[in-house]
Amino acid sequence: MKKLILFLLALICTISVYGIEVNNLRTDTRINPLGLDNIHPSLSWMINGTGRNIMQTAYQIMVATSPEKLAMGDADLWNSGKVESDQSIYISYNGTALKSGQQCFWKVKVWSNKGETKWSSVSKWSMGLLEKSDWKGEWIGLAKLFSGDTIAAHSRLSARYLRKEFISPQKIKRATIYIIGLGMYELYINGEKVGNQELAPSPTDFSKDVRYNTFDVTESLKKGKNAIAVVLGNGRYFYMRQGFNQSKEKLPKMLFQLEVEYADGNRTSIISDRSWKITTDGPIRSNNEYDGEEYDARKELKGWQVAGYNDSQWLSAEQVTAPCNNISSQLNENMIVQEVIKPKSITRLQNGKYILDMGQNMAGWLKLKANGKAGDTISLRFAETLKADGSLFTDNLRRAQQTDKYIMKGGNWEEWQPTFVYHGFRYVEIMGYSGVPAIDNFEGKVIYDGFKTIGSFECSDSLLNVIYRNACRTIRNNFKGMPIDCPQRDERDPWLGDWATTSIGASYTFDHQRLFAKWLDDIQFAQRASGQLPDIAPEPGWTAFKDNMTWPGTYLLIGNMLLTRFGNKDVIVKHYPSMKKWLWYMKGKYLKDNILIKDRFGDWCVPPESPELIHSQDSTRQTSGELISTAYFYHFLQMMYSFAAISGNNSDISECQTLASQVRTAFNRKFFNANTHQYANNTVTANLLPLAFDLVDKGEEDLVFNRMIDRIINQDKCHISTGLIGCQWLMRELTKRGRVDIAWQIATQTDYPGWGYMVKNGATTVWELWNGNTADPTMNSQNHVMLLGDLIAWMYGDLAGLKPAEGCPGFQKLRMEPHIPGNLTSVTAYTETPYGQAKSDWVINNGQFIWNVVVPVNTRANLLLPAASLDDIRLNGRPVQEMEGVKFMGTERERISVEVGSGIYKFICKYHQFQH
Ligand code: BGC
Repeated sequence: MKKLILFLLALICTISVYGIEVNNLRTDTRINPLGLDNIHPSLSWMINGTGRNIMQTAYQIMVATSPEKLAMGDADLWNSGKVESDQSIYISYNGTALKSGQQCFWKVKVWSNKGETKWSSVSKWSMGLLEKSDWKGEWIGLAKLFSGDTIAAHSRLSARYLRKEFISPQKIKRATIYIIGLGMYELYINGEKVGNQELAPSPTDFSKDVRYNTFDVTESLKKGKNAIAVVLGNGRYFYMRQGFNQSKEKLPKMLFQLEVEYADGNRTSIISDRSWKITTDGPIRSNNEYDGEEYDARKELKGWQVAGYNDSQWLSAEQVTAPCNNISSQLNENMIVQEVIKPKSITRLQNGKYILDMGQNMAGWLKLKANGKAGDTISLRFAETLKADGSLFTDNLRRAQQTDKYIMKGGNWEEWQPTFVYHGFRYVEIMGYSGVPAIDNFEGKVIYDGFKTIGSFECSDSLLNVIYRNACRTIRNNFKGMPIDCPQRDERDPWLGDWATTSIGASYTFDHQRLFAKWLDDIQFAQRASGQLPDIAPEPGWTAFKDNMTWPGTYLLIGNMLLTRFGNKDVIVKHYPSMKKWLWYMKGKYLKDNILIKDRFGDWCVPPESPELIHSQDSTRQTSGELISTAYFYHFLQMMYSFAAISGNNSDISECQTLASQVRTAFNRKFFNANTHQYANNTVTANLLPLAFDLVDKGEEDLVFNRMIDRIINQDKCHISTGLIGCQWLMRELTKRGRVDIAWQIATQTDYPGWGYMVKNGATTVWELWNGNTADPTMNSQNHVMLLGDLIAWMYGDLAGLKPAEGCPGFQKLRMEPHIPGNLTSVTAYTETPYGQAKSDWVINNGQFIWNVVVPVNTRANLLLPAASLDDIRLNGRPVQEMEGVKFMGTERERISVEVGSGIYKFICKYHQFQH
């Protein structure tokens, strides 16, 4: 009997809190299973075993109120008993009702076809404050402006400093803090910062939904005097976007609760109330996400975070209005410092200013070290590019000033970094630095959501590797507690369309599932009673409700991504009613003769005909808005059948199917030209969407595809000609239909337009516009994810061959079919699936295809090998036919198809080259 090692990987709450690993003793900062407010949290685990073809056959979960009870087998909260099942992710807790603040300890045991595990080691989670009445404190802050605060085009607001001391009469057994600090907070206990989060909490639409963070602070408190200190910044609460609505009602505020349990069982709560002291007269004089932070070190409040500080000059906190009634636990990770970057160079300009080059376009901030006199002011101005004379180019930042100011206290070396702002930049202009600044005086901090990197991709083509790295940089730069459009100009908004498909590619590299689950909530909160959805969520209160299929429809696409990539069915159940409501709202308002007539953005940002243009003026480059919206409407109806089945809304299925078939007929009648076998004006997007969404009648598919290929080869000369819509489907569809060679050429062109063109022009991130080096700066960010489309999903899914098999969400079965275009001779890639790491590593050497594959335990994989016959394949040195557990499935697409269970494999075969 094989011995299995069991890893308790995940404790996943219904909106997906990824869990904890215990047996391998990894300290896992991405996971904070504290403060769950779902009374049926989901449990997941990962089985790690040596040997092949291991499948779980049963499991048993035990949950107890203490580790001691659990050790004795006393599962006083839940004992699932032995359940015959292969399910190892998203098992819903089904025990005794859980209470606010309760701690739950759990373990699991697994049976498999190859033997059973021991009990896993113990993992735990804690419940949050489940009822509104559990919150005993009041919202506190100061409902007025102070000297230096202004509400204007470039608003300034000083940070709010709050403090409270209390005495603990005895040893503390357990202490938990629940905090909401709006727009952002920093929390200290006895002088130490609590947690490693930055710019917390994640932004939501605070008028509808606020989320608290939970911290276990048992170790930070002591018997005797303790001090709690909080700094409040503006974030998106005191909304500081230049020229947009700001209101005094939205001054920073806080709701706080510390629950203390003493060794003798007594309890007490320290809450936010008017006994807290507050001042605005501290060092952070202004903090504005777009304009920057100003810090006067001469005003530092020495010792204010520890007990004994004299706060008699401070004001008493005021009770202020609650932002909204809806309070829940934040289950997605806060942002953290993810990487520290050393600048590449520093250059002195003629005017005495210095320009620091970080070597890459990044989002975060700069930490500085300086030595000077009290009152010296160092100013740091941030931008993405330089002018020809080497000075900063800031036109594309529009009204965002992106400038930090540090006023020195004088004396020794001083170090500083901002607290409540971030910038999008590669270059920093330094002014007022006393002496000559050197590279070593600065550090770039890359800030984004604290999830793990879970994948990597590398291949034999150095250009594609650079494109991949640029893509990853761009993606991470735009994770800011919500997925945003760009991190630099006066925008930084979570536009839905930008992430529709890029989120799939990103999911291979980043464990972003909790962020996107939270984003679905943001979208749901933004929905109007009519069903209408915005183009931006959280909805910023301007221009966002304009109705179209493509941006709001990202709601369904992200749900589908979470289902397919992470196996999260819970989000589908939760959001199905709102998804349907929106689709039916659009149908009711805009479906005329089965054509969806409302569109807003078209195929946004196709490559324009001239270098300066933002949007093409040439109608032959643009695709009909009605074609796009009707094709997407059809696609969403199809998606709804499967969502209806998953969420138990089976009665909706036939209604969706009937409507879909009517829409299909109308679509083809209106847009298809049977003589030329093309759709509408024959743009790539016009033909691609019907192909990708299964709108084309069977006999016509190849003909339409050939029309599209003709256009790409003859007119586009194998360059990209689509905007944000087309590029979401292009690479995968070309590959699926046998033309990976064309996809490859498009991906690797270095002249205009293409991703390689960006690289050739020095890009370290992906541009908003295909002509981002020459176009008008009024809409021209250098750090935008939207044009990535399905490029990264294609690299992992089609070049490496790592894809979930059709109908097997969460990679419970893999479909591995590596494609080998152009002069590509090797790919090595892996990604963490919910079951464990899946890997594909292939190389072509001396006419042999050598393929190392890892299939996670409790999954299976269908592998398609580029071999002419089964006889040409050897596995771990032996003819594949002799190997137990490898099932020959026949020939598919000229490849040899085999099915294997979990394990590590090395296949070698005579490389059979296909035409495409
Ligand atoms: C944003 C885009 C967004 C678009 C929609 C732009 O300003 O930066 O990424 O999707 O507007 O109109």
